[in-house]
Amino acid sequence: MQEKLYGGRFEAGQDKYFEKFSESLHFDKRLIEADLEGSKAFARALESVGILNAEERGRIVKAFEEIQTEAKNSAYFNGASDEDVHSFVIRQLKEKTGQLADKIHTGRSRNEQVSLDTRLWLRSTIETTITATKSLMAELLKLANKYPQAVIPGYTHMRRAQAVLWPHYLLAYYEMFARDVERLHQAHARTNVLPLGSGALAGSAFPFDRNAIARDLGFASITYNSMDVSADRDFVLDYMHAANLVMLHLSRLSEDWILYSSDEFAWMELSDGVTSGSSLMPQKKNPDSLELIRGKCGRVFGAYSALFVTMKGLPLTYNRDMQEDKEQLFDAADQTISCLNMASIVAQNVTIKPEIPEKACAESWVVATDIAEALSRAGLPFHQSHKLAGRLVLHGIKTGKNPASFTAEELHAFDPHFTPDFVFILKDPRHGMQTRVVPGGTAPQSVAAALREAQARLEKL
Ligand code: ARG
Repeated sequence: MQEKLYGGRFEAGQDKYFEKFSESLHFDKRLIEADLEGSKAFARALESVGILNAEERGRIVKAFEEIQTEAKNSAYFNGASDEDVHSFVIRQLKEKTGQLADKIHTGRSRNEQVSLDTRLWLRSTIETTITATKSLMAELLKLANKYPQAVIPGYTHMRRAQAVLWPHYLLAYYEMFARDVERLHQAHARTNVLPLGSGALAGSAFPFDRNAIARDLGFASITYNSMDVSADRDFVLDYMHAANLVMLHLSRLSEDWILYSSDEFAWMELSDGVTSGSSLMPQKKNPDSLELIRGKCGRVFGAYSALFVTMKGLPLTYNRDMQEDKEQLFDAADQTISCLNMASIVAQNVTIKPEIPEKACAESWVVATDIAEALSRAGLPFHQSHKLAGRLVLHGIKTGKNPASFTAEELHAFDPHFTPDFVFILKDPRHGMQTRVVPGGTAPQSVAAALREAQARLEKL
């Protein structure tokens, strides 16, 4: 049996079952790179407070660098039975530097170390998440520019509501992901703070220059309170919250596209590359890529609530419960990043048949609001315009007439408020769309401006 690192106080070894139950190496080994980077910086800090001399620091840093190289081999952890990645690294250091390794943990606690490692790992994971989100946003803009003039019905209550431009619809998702990127930057800022120097909970008893360590490791600042450091996983939850919203947006996008590419809507086509067949029904072409994104959303939400509930009610400061943060975090991050990448690929594999949604607009009464608003522009109070337009819709439905089939004479006979120019509004949903020129509206010139603005903003996000 391996000798326990912190075993002085104990007379007997650990129960085998407990040992297995409590070890975290099989998942926190993902932190090894962070642990080694943090430990190298800590060795330099130990030199600066006189615990290590330059030669000793040099040997330790060199050993850590060797471990960094060796750890690239996937078999590196095979057979290891250490409690966690931090103990594992120290054992490797002992094998390489012998007794000198006993100095590395001077004035340091695993409580701050695990916070440091998680922050280092998360910092780069957030950057990866931001990059993946921005790539998807770029794909959405490309897809918008493929069909700049296409008109689709916009829905409320899953009923055709008003006609909008296809790029306008995609820009709605662009905005959601833009907010996600903002949130991810905020999560990054809260993560990018150095906890080292906090000790177990009371602050280190060695006079480390914490700001110098922060600079060494590229942190923007240092934490304010040592007890807070040991007790805190807010930065993990912040990221998971941001990731949850990314997933929520991805899930809604998936749901839309599953519907739009269904036989019932039939105006979006997902290419063979991102769809699957059925084991029994030969005709099927299923949108599994989108369904899996939607499905994984539940899993990522679950990870977030799991950690929330774990943290709730924990007395200050560190409690071993907090070890449960990592599997949730890792899985949430892995799933979010892979769903973002999958969604980008799906976006590249989407084609639309603009004539179908255009026909859907023409056949339905998506122009009704345009009619009411035109009546009000001509002076009729809106509630009366609304009622009159509503009566025309009812008349059309009862007589089986499309908006486009009304002549000027029929309209005038229905109600004299309908002047001849109303025919144009009824003929083509694009007509009414032109009036929505406010910034953020779906008028073609507003959408063209919004697309240019979005492209420019993406570069700065
Ligand atoms: N594996 C532990 C975790 O993930 C590291 C910190 C252990 N600290 C302790 N006092 N047992 O939280």
